Amino acid sequence: MNALSLNSVVLSENEKELVLLDQTLLPNEVKYLHLTQPEDIWEAIYSLRVRGAPAIGVAAAYGIYLISAQLDTDDMAAFCANFRKQKEYLDSARPTAVNLSWALNRMEKVLDENKNVLPVPDMKNRLLQEAHAIREEDIAISRAIGSLGFDLLHPGDGILTHCNAGTLATAKYGTALAPVYMALENGWSDLRVYCDETRPLLQGARLSAFEMQTAGVDTTLLCDNMASLAMRRGLIDIIFVGCDRMAANGDFANKIGTSAVAILARHYGIPFYVCVPTTSIDLSIPDGDHIVIEERKSEEVTEMWYAKRMAPEGVKVFNPAFDVTDHDLVTGVITEKGIACAPFGDAFHALGIC
Ligand code: MRU
Repeated sequence: MNALSLNSVVLSENEKELVLLDQTLLPNEVKYLHLTQPEDIWEAIYSLRVRGAPAIGVAAAYGIYLISAQLDTDDMAAFCANFRKQKEYLDSARPTAVNLSWALNRMEKVLDENKNVLPVPDMKNRLLQEAHAIREEDIAISRAIGSLGFDLLHPGDGILTHCNAGTLATAKYGTALAPVYMALENGWSDLRVYCDETRPLLQGARLSAFEMQTAGVDTTLLCDNMASLAMRRGLIDIIFVGCDRMAANGDFANKIGTSAVAILARHYGIPFYVCVPTTSIDLSIPDGDHIVIEERKSEEVTEMWYAKRMAPEGVKVFNPAFDVTDHDLVTGVITEKGIACAPFGDAFHALGIC
């Protein structure tokens, strides 16, 4: 199997179904879902069948297109009303990754710009083209981030990553793992990738370790609480993580546990890079305190993955899905437009991110 042939999110050939690789079944089963209904698309996003900020954005773009295209009407007012209702519904599936609302807003902009000039059938086609563009752009963005990240690597480097920000989390290549794919393309075969298990949903174990091993990379899995010793022993030369939402000052939300990795990296003097498509930068918020953090059900901590429940009945559980890493712990922000270093506000401006 070729890791890059695993398509996390595409539209079916007949353009009538959203085709998602069900990531909840990995690494044991590679199964694609064919979805058409709003409730199923919402559930797939909520349940992390499709997950990773950019992949969620692409799924939402195709999702809102499909749902809108199913409405049998020539009345543009009715078409727009349905679009906005369904947009709000899809947007409610997960709160932290900004790509969900970003993609839906971009689709709505197309609606608003064309609602007085196009008939409904042409509008449907225009929305389809926009969704395709969002996916194609995401692939190009990931490759650009991968090339910039690759330039930071040396043969034989040990790379630590947290959660999964690989090809499964985007349309292709990923963000934090894209530099590894670029290294493979350049004939490098001696990089070592360390995947934090990423409690509680195990995206590192189930997805990153699977993806990297499938790609033929020297892959080592470690529990989240083992990262400190790995760093102390000199196994880690550089850290690449992904991002779900970055604020204007460079604070960012990523999978729970990311900030602990950044704090350890500072302690051990290891460069810590966050790989961020500009689609995940939210300049409307000044800092990380303005990021809404998704909280998920307690069963993910107490019983999921275990043969038997592993916590006392009734115990209180704290289960935030993301945490916020302070910008001052970040060595660099790798975007498709270039690498930003502190002060991040000025650097974003200089890169034309505004
Ligand atoms: O809850 P998830 O699995 O969607 O969380 C994903 C992450 O935290 C990723 O690191 C992030 O979305 C970046 S993906 C390129």
